[in-house]
Amino acid sequence: MTPRDQAIAHYDAHRPGHLESLKKLVRIPSVSFSGYDPENVRASAKATAQWLRDSGLHNVEIWELPDTYPSVYGEWLGAKDAPTVLLYAHHDVQPPLREALWNSPPFEPTERNGRLYGRGSADDKAGIAVHAASIAAWLKTAGNLPVNVKVLIEGEEEIGSPNLTAYLKHYKDRLRCDYMVLTDCANYDTGKPSLTTSLRGLVTLEITVSALNSPLHSGMWGGPIPDPVSGLCKMLASLTNEKGRVAVSGLMDAVVPPSKSELDDFRALGMSEKIFREQSGVLDGVRLFAENEELLVQLWRQPAISINAFRAGGSGAVGNVLMDSAWARIGLRLAPGMDPEVCTRMLTDHLQKTCPWGLKSEIVPEQGAKPWKTSPDHPVFEVAKKSLTRGYGSDAVCIGCGGTIPFVDQFTGILGDIPALLVGIEDPRTNAHSENESLDLGDFDKAVRSQIHFFADLAESGL
Ligand code: BES
Ligand code: MN
Ligand code: MN
Repeated sequence: MTPRDQAIAHYDAHRPGHLESLKKLVRIPSVSFSGYDPENVRASAKATAQWLRDSGLHNVEIWELPDTYPSVYGEWLGAKDAPTVLLYAHHDVQPPLREALWNSPPFEPTERNGRLYGRGSADDKAGIAVHAASIAAWLKTAGNLPVNVKVLIEGEEEIGSPNLTAYLKHYKDRLRCDYMVLTDCANYDTGKPSLTTSLRGLVTLEITVSALNSPLHSGMWGGPIPDPVSGLCKMLASLTNEKGRVAVSGLMDAVVPPSKSELDDFRALGMSEKIFREQSGVLDGVRLFAENEELLVQLWRQPAISINAFRAGGSGAVGNVLMDSAWARIGLRLAPGMDPEVCTRMLTDHLQKTCPWGLKSEIVPEQGAKPWKTSPDHPVFEVAKKSLTRGYGSDAVCIGCGGTIPFVDQFTGILGDIPALLVGIEDPRTNAHSENESLDLGDFDKAVRSQIHFFADLAESGL
């Protein structure tokens, strides 16, 4: 058996142990959102550190700057003259959303039909598992890795990595590397290994629109006084046109459209309305705003507005009242080319201009994240594709991503424009950020095998 076959055989034999470690991590509700106990994020950092140590990494440390959530770092630097790869994932998770809608409790990992259900099972505790398992497979067999690795597991990704710049500046020298592998993305489909070459950015803000200091009897006062809930609805409705396109003036100007060859690649993926409907679960009769490969263009390379939450009035029994105010959280996904600060300003201006009837509006923007795009012409992309194709037994494809990972742009900004390989084990059925998040366990094995191959393929490539 070659060393890589031995490593793969080791993983196959120790899979149950790694699955147990992943379940242990999912049981820790490491939600990084404010209002949730930060001790849980510290506990998941500790459990992650232990797992990395058990896998054989050296110098495993918990990095915690003041007033931040901890990251976990570990390394193995014994491969002389070989390149150094930084492996990234995050250990914080989203809140469970509506707990009553989970078929099994969000923080009780449960296997059903070949999938592991639980918050963070895929996004992104599975990313940690891939790193730990692929490293252990080499270190527990050959006793070494074909390349040097540094592992960084972030603790604040789901809140937009507010302190990442500080971490990267502080630990710059420890983090130097030749390539990075981020295991926090989605495959194009279950079983279809994918390299992500673009990410959208993000701008979010909260808006409150008010007419009164407290609600009034709608019969006694309704009519002459403007309704702030209707006012906010008009403002929100003006953000998109009839075709669902973002209608904020100037916003589209900076968008970098896909090139001819990118469009050809999108077309070759064979997306159709039927597949898109099945995968997303959109209700029958609800129209889509694009067709075929244009669905992918819109998803990956165009901005999109989502009203993440809207509140007005009380929940439960509702009386006949004229409300004092209405509130919404608006999310704007940015296409490659768009700048978060410029877009925050344009969105804010639009809302202020469209606020009707002299209603008072208060807008609180949150920290934005830049979009990112790379062209996969560095030869390391071919190496990664080869390893993925081997590990999955299916040809790897290049895709875009509609989501955001602040790390990529910030890291390249501080440590130089090194090639970034974005992979992951989410799939169209994962339901990340929603209820009943899950991980396909078949793809989990394939992702680990791919990474075991990648370490050897990269060393052999001489890059
Ligand atoms: N893993 C996701 C990014 C992602 C989304 C990959 C969709 C593949 C498909 C990541 O954890 C995430 O959710 N990022 C946030 C970032 C934000 C808080 C700046 C997002 O996209 O909302
Ligand atoms: Mn993630
Ligand atoms: Mn996420």
